[in-house]
Amino acid sequence: MLLNEDIWPGETPWYTMKFETDRDYMDRFYGAKQEAAGLVKPRRVVEIGVRCGYGGLALMRGAGWPGVGIYVGFDTLDEVGELGIEWARRILAPWSSTIFAPFDTQSVDDLLVEADFVHVDGSHEYPCPLHDLQLAARTTAKHILIDDMNMSGVQRSYREWTVPHKVVKEWDLHSKESGITQKQVLLELT
Ligand SMILES: C[S@@+](CC[C@H](N)C(=O)[O-])C[C@H]1O[C@@H](n2cnc3c(N)ncnc32)[C@H](O)[C@@H]1O
Repeated sequence: MLLNEDIWPGETPWYTMKFETDRDYMDRFYGAKQEAAGLVKPRRVVEIGVRCGYGGLALMRGAGWPGVGIYVGFDTLDEVGELGIEWARRILAPWSSTIFAPFDTQSVDDLLVEADFVHVDGSHEYPCPLHDLQLAARTTAKHILIDDMNMSGVQRSYREWTVPHKVVKEWDLHSKESGITQKQVLLELT
């Protein structure tokens, strides 16, 4: 779960409002990521799309390698800029963490990192998620968590992705407060 002190003091009005008025949903949302990592226990976690580091933090907490876990993140700085990424670096400092930013995953064919688990949560516009899924599959990772699978650009990318895999678990999340629906899917490459 995210603690109040994990939240960036410079957070945007939308996220601040969500954390204040829809905390139960936000806890379930990041709780799903923590649970996904808890199922797999990856030591090396890669994240495409870092923002302020909340998802990364949930993954690293779930993974359960205090002090020795490895986190590598990539972000263009589109959403929160340098200060948001600085916050991510700060909250992920208890692990061996590296964040490449600005870094556009769409401009590379290989992330050149070793990984056990990749969180695909960068641009959700087709065909970006397809490219990010291909990058994830080119690492050493056995597991991939896809965020926002309910969004059309992510769904279409997933449909066109041909790498053999099985679905380990899906999380369908709904906020009664705001009506938001969200789906996260944990995959295992086979
Ligand atoms: C949904 S947010 C990530 C949220 C974060 N994973 C979490 O769980 O808290 C998407 C992030 O992807 C980044 N992004 C968008 N396009 C990208 C790209 N082509 N390469 C790398 N990062 C990208 C944005 O800057 C933004 O910070």
